[in-house]
Amino acid sequence: MSADTMRAVVQDTFGGPEVLRVAEVPRPQPLPTEVLVRVHAAGINPVDWKTRGGTGMAGLLGEPPFTLGWDVSGVVEEVGFGVTTLEVGDEVYGMPWFPRVANAYAEYVTAPARQFARKPATLDHVHAAAVPLAALTAWQAVVDTAHVQAGQRVLITAAAGGVGHFAVQFARHLGAHVIATASAARHPWLKELGANRSIDYTTTRFEDAAADIDIVIDLVGDAHDLTSTRSLKVLRPGGLLVAIPQGVSPELAQAADAAGVRVTAFLVEPDGAALTAIAGLIDAGEVAVEVEQTFPLEQAGAAHARGEAGRTRGKLVLTSTN
Ligand SMILES: NC(=O)c1ccc[n+]([C@@H]2O[C@H](COP(=O)([O-])OP(=O)(O)OC[C@H]3O[C@@H](n4cnc5c(N)ncnc54)[C@H](OP(=O)(O)O)[C@@H]3O)[C@@H](O)[C@H]2O)c1
Repeated sequence: MSADTMRAVVQDTFGGPEVLRVAEVPRPQPLPTEVLVRVHAAGINPVDWKTRGGTGMAGLLGEPPFTLGWDVSGVVEEVGFGVTTLEVGDEVYGMPWFPRVANAYAEYVTAPARQFARKPATLDHVHAAAVPLAALTAWQAVVDTAHVQAGQRVLITAAAGGVGHFAVQFARHLGAHVIATASAARHPWLKELGANRSIDYTTTRFEDAAADIDIVIDLVGDAHDLTSTRSLKVLRPGGLLVAIPQGVSPELAQAADAAGVRVTAFLVEPDGAALTAIAGLIDAGEVAVEVEQTFPLEQAGAAHARGEAGRTRGKLVLTSTN
């Protein structure tokens, strides 16, 4: 491999995990205001396997070939003209470019400097790469969209997953009373993270076990057992549902209206400043990061298959031998 090339996971067609393969591709060059980051680890998110298969952000990325991935932790290798906030050698993490292609499943990534933040000092690259997309989603839902306040009752579905485990911790940090849905084996861990109560979704319908909720952060969606629509039943009048996986269908909007509650769609955005705030909470020991398993770039397909099974505790992360 020459200095002008790098290894990256590419796909030539939409399809199953088997379409992911490692190839040698040109190394990107930073434009003015951008940095070149040597990637040590790349987080995996459901949007990755949805896009791989032709849904998710596929409509924005267009036809393959392309390289998936938005979550990066690594070291600044070069800075473009005009960058004053980062220097060569800085350890950074981020979710650059989303929802445009970011090429994070690769040895190098270029992106605007301000879409990165300094990596939490207490985390290694693997754990730092697990943070950006999931934690920004949780932050922007809990803090920026729902404006969760102390004393509010917050229900979080799929609380044991990537986004959910951050949402539980952010809501609890803000002083909310947190109710989580997860399978029973996850309950002791969710209690450690700050959930006041967990409901086993495999045995109990959450609408039979929770009521008077101010805010639902729904990470399951209507595609699974009409979870968004069912969650309208637990909200107090005027309460808010943040519908994260599939947004708000006309039927869901109508049902919310009829129930006298609010509902909003949601899409995560890059935000270096929020990542700095999140790094502060992590370094202060207020927020823990859970990585279930790591995979080398060559096993990106196996990592996707694991994630798509839908039972991940926390996050899955790709590592680069870079
Ligand atoms: N709109 C946006 O900007 C945005 C951003 C990020 C993510 N998302 C979407 O949000 C969803 C969650 O993302 P994620 O990264 O957190 O996923 P994830 O990490 O893959 O979620 C896995 C977790 O889901 C739990 N789970 C599965 N079915 C469940 C159910 N019926 N009830 C309760 N928990 C259930 C599992 O818990 P158990 O192991 O206990 O079964 C597992 O811990 C995905 O659809 C993703 O695409 C949207």
